[in-house]
Amino acid sequence: MRNIVLLGAPGAGKGTQAVLIAKEYNIPHISTGAILRKNIQEGTELGKQAKSYIEAGQLVPDSLVIDIVADRLGQDDAKNGYILDGFPRTIAQAEALDRVTTIDLVLDINVPFEAIIERLSGRLVCKCGETSHVDWVDSDRKCPKCGETLFVRDDDKPETVRARLAVYEKQTAPLIGYYEAKGNLVSVDVDGSDQVEDVFEKVKKVL
Ligand code: AP5
Repeated sequence: MRNIVLLGAPGAGKGTQAVLIAKEYNIPHISTGAILRKNIQEGTELGKQAKSYIEAGQLVPDSLVIDIVADRLGQDDAKNGYILDGFPRTIAQAEALDRVTTIDLVLDINVPFEAIIERLSGRLVCKCGETSHVDWVDSDRKCPKCGETLFVRDDDKPETVRARLAVYEKQTAPLIGYYEAKGNLVSVDVDGSDQVEDVFEKVKKVL
């Protein structure tokens, strides 16, 4: 299984698991959310166009992300597989993906709603890319990887989280049926109390 798509609601742990999968199977982790946030940070044209959508918890238009992903998948390091995190998020994106690549496995990480709210309300991130949680770090909130100060992501405000979850239900959850019909969907059910390592063990079993 080399070309993998990770599905799951905001906060399901896609990014956390994608980092582990990429390391274990030596394939690149491609996150559209991370690509968009980097563009916002750098003030590029794409970043300027994406900013208001992300801050409102809405999806950026398909036209902005489809070409980026198609280009990224054409790069050399993606020739032997990749893990796509946060793409596709709409049926139109999934259809566009099918036109440029073949997906071997779609992994749906299924986490109870209450656990998602708890996780996102405590998430801390670092500009080096590390993701953590208020309960896992000291009170000075230094990044365990690079030592910089961790911060709360702009779209993790409670009202934006609610908007993101509603957008997920309406626009992204239908992809479960899309991939079920193709026969390449596997769901991993994650209990709110499953630690990151427990989830990764479940993930490795299906990979
Ligand atoms: P994106 O960056 O993709 O955000 P998301 O899908 O909302 O997902 P998150 O990053 O919030 O959560 P995650 O599932 O990766 O969980 P994580 O591992 O961090 O997208 C952001 C925005 O960009 C979108 O809203 C949209 O506007 C735009 N966008 C991106 N792609 C797009 C596309 N294709 N089309 C259109 N627009 C697009 O974990 C969450 C927290 O839980 C962390 O604190 C983590 O440490 C913790 N945690 C993880 N696992 C566990 C565990 N087992 N137990 C306890 N805590 C855990």
